[in-house]
Amino acid sequence: MKAIVQDRYGPEALELREVDRPEPGDRDVLVRVRAASIHPGDWFLTTGRPYVMRAGWGLRGPRKKIPGFDLAGTVEAVGSGVEGIAPGDEVFGTAGGSCAEYAVTRPGALHALPGGLGFEEAAPLAVSGTTALRGIRDVGKVQAGQHVLVNGASGGVGTFAVQIAKALGAEVTGVCSGRNADLVRSIGADHVIDYTTEDFTAGGERYDLILDNAASHTLKAMRGALVPTGLLVPNNGTSGGDWFGPLGRVLGAMATSPFLRRQGPTYVATPKPQDLADLAAMVADGSVKAVVGATFPLEDTPEAMRRIGAGATPAKTVITV
Ligand SMILES: NC(=O)c1ccc[n+]([C@@H]2O[C@H](COP(=O)([O-])OP(=O)(O)OC[C@H]3O[C@@H](n4cnc5c(N)ncnc54)[C@H](OP(=O)(O)O)[C@@H]3O)[C@@H](O)[C@H]2O)c1
Repeated sequence: MKAIVQDRYGPEALELREVDRPEPGDRDVLVRVRAASIHPGDWFLTTGRPYVMRAGWGLRGPRKKIPGFDLAGTVEAVGSGVEGIAPGDEVFGTAGGSCAEYAVTRPGALHALPGGLGFEEAAPLAVSGTTALRGIRDVGKVQAGQHVLVNGASGGVGTFAVQIAKALGAEVTGVCSGRNADLVRSIGADHVIDYTTEDFTAGGERYDLILDNAASHTLKAMRGALVPTGLLVPNNGTSGGDWFGPLGRVLGAMATSPFLRRQGPTYVATPKPQDLADLAAMVADGSVKAVVGATFPLEDTPEAMRRIGAGATPAKTVITV
């Protein structure tokens, strides 16, 4: 099968190759990938940065040589112990190494494609959609009428977060660069703040919930933009140096959150079957859609990855296979 493979770290190491098709075990599902989606987490893995993460990923090069996690496609084969899913089913979800013609995963990592949805609109749903669900609904517990600010509203997580908060009845302010303001308005944001000209922590407005996807301010400054009963949900951030990247920020939030009433826990969103079902239902009822900022054929994955590293593509990046 054709796959994007890398033997060493760095986007220049990504190349299209012919490799063996993975074989599903008894409890696995083999998916013919029709579209994959990549995001900043894939950029970290491809570049091997932050360096400290190489202890787990592989010191000299990535142990997992095919990038990608999100996908949509058609079930090709299932293991003998798999029930409830069959060859020919159209699905979306996650599988390691989704930038390839085929990928193997567990049945619980997949969900039936919402009716009428194309593979390219379904591939970006799982990781970013689940992360936004966790931040806005589960940790943030947003209620109708609350004022929610999404910092990094034009990104993969942010575009889902804006729509989910609106679907829950919130008034939503999205923070992004001016070039993406219209995009954020188009998905329902009531107000947009251009971070290049305005600092939301310095204005007089106070929010019930802030979902931070950008790490653009100190946690303390962001808590200062909350009402007394408000909550800051720190969802990583892209800042930091080559060695520790966003980890310093994450560890800082982990250390302080248990002692701060207005700061929620950090979290790692691993898409669960119920999350995938909830996302599929929201897509089916029209309240949420994946915003696709750019689409690339499989062979152009290195360029797609570079553009993610440069922050040049808004919302979700799709790879067609
Ligand atoms: N907790 C989890 O399990 C989990 C899962 C997935 C991702 N994440 C994390 O979530 C974060 C966001 O991911 P993503 O996929 O949404 O990233 P992304 O697509 O690269 O989006 C980044 C966003 O940040 C905005 N931004 C950049 N500089 C900013 C600034 N100074 N002030 C305000 N906004 C700024 C960008 O706006 P413009 O493009 O308009 O400049 C964009 O909206 C990342 O740190 C990622 O690691 C966490």
